[in-house]
Amino acid sequence: MTHPCDMLVFGGTGDLALHKLLPALYHLHRDRLLPADLRIVALARQPLGRDAYRALAERRCRAQVARTSFQAETWQSFAERIDYFAMDASQSAHYGRLARHLDNAGPRGRIHYLATAPSLFEDIAACLANAGLAGSDARIVLEKPIGHSLASALAINQSIGQVFQESQVFRIDHYLGKETVQNLMALRFANALFEPLWRAGHIDHVQISVCETLGVENRGSYYDHAGAMRDMLQNHLLQLLCLVAMEAPVRFDAEAVRNEKVKILEALKPIAGLDVKDRTVRGQYAAGKIGGQEVPAYYFEKNVDNDSDTETFVALQAEIDNWRWAGVPFYLRTGKRLARKCSEIIIQFKPVPHRLFQDGQANRLRIRLQPEESISLQLMAKSPGKGMHLAPVELDLNLAHAFRQKRRWDAYERLLLDVIEGDSTLFMRRDEVEAAWRWVDPIIGGWHAYYQRPRPYPAGSWGPEQAHSLLEQQGHAWHE
Ligand code: BG6
Repeated sequence: MTHPCDMLVFGGTGDLALHKLLPALYHLHRDRLLPADLRIVALARQPLGRDAYRALAERRCRAQVARTSFQAETWQSFAERIDYFAMDASQSAHYGRLARHLDNAGPRGRIHYLATAPSLFEDIAACLANAGLAGSDARIVLEKPIGHSLASALAINQSIGQVFQESQVFRIDHYLGKETVQNLMALRFANALFEPLWRAGHIDHVQISVCETLGVENRGSYYDHAGAMRDMLQNHLLQLLCLVAMEAPVRFDAEAVRNEKVKILEALKPIAGLDVKDRTVRGQYAAGKIGGQEVPAYYFEKNVDNDSDTETFVALQAEIDNWRWAGVPFYLRTGKRLARKCSEIIIQFKPVPHRLFQDGQANRLRIRLQPEESISLQLMAKSPGKGMHLAPVELDLNLAHAFRQKRRWDAYERLLLDVIEGDSTLFMRRDEVEAAWRWVDPIIGGWHAYYQRPRPYPAGSWGPEQAHSLLEQQGHAWHE
């Protein structure tokens, strides 16, 4: 932004704003990365004064930010940037007041961060336009999921497109802001080593798992209408799949990178009709134990229907119908209340063409995003001592150690800075979101058509049994 700028956070008292956005902005402020004149205006219905909001934000940030990074003095200077304005974002009449509240001498850039339910996106965009807050130097940030189906995503994109140019729209998928996710591009496109092997001829299959131990926390009313497919797979997991599978872009810029990603989404082989039964598994957690603690079943969570058939787990086998990947299964899996928090991508290579040794195993590359960020390559080596016995050894790269990182950047820090700087490389373009829904919709439709209720799995396990059979029938197994 070339001139002073306001970041308006709609949904300012919500979890996302208090738990993620403000702590990220605090860190950027502390590291002197925010423009000096950036003002943060939180908007929500609660009738709070500015000081009360600052106090609320401080309490939540203190709880969120590591004790060593929270400094009272830095907080004071950060808090001076924060303003609060009470309004109902669905009421067009409130926007005139908002415009007057924001009015400052001289031009100001505006970043509208919609940390709200997607059902409000269209109204907010229209109201911003009517109030003169959506000029050519304004930007709008939309949180995923964009809609709950292709039709609703098209409607949202259409309405947003009537007010903002595509270059002004930033659709966030916070997985793209994670360092290791970006490292995946560095690994593939800055090293000559893997590229010749990165294809069907050498890769047996790929696994992408995002496993969480958390349940739905306070988000039952949102989650029960979304489920794991819309909350995680349609966006985070498909974005990871795109980065694993896409061709090298000609440049590292927003259009070139996103052109390549969308080609992968469009090449996904549809899963529809009976294939939905054979190639997908949905689950829902039952009561169980995590870390020694008893946890209740999903349908006992707050704001969840007690006859809910929303899935908290999904596993499926995707295939990409293109020259590079034809015939290679991509297994995707995500779930809540699983045995361990762990997000990783496994690239399983094919075995050597001619087996010389008894105990050989095929190479495996593991890219771990969470809990730690690491990349490791499993190779075969001779065990010391008599005989020619082989054992797998890991070439292990721990990125935090390699770069002597003092503190791990949160994905939102990177993405918020990119919005301020106007770089949309790590954001989803309209056609990507729509292509992802186009592939996901028939799967959800199939579940309903066949009354496929989610399979129960005990909290603290690795999901329903059927998720294991999905791989076993192809001679594969989840890496756990
Ligand atoms: C969010 C989902 O997008 O990602 C949550 O809405 C999920 O349900 C979260 O818990 C996981 O993010 P992370 O960064 O903790 O893996």
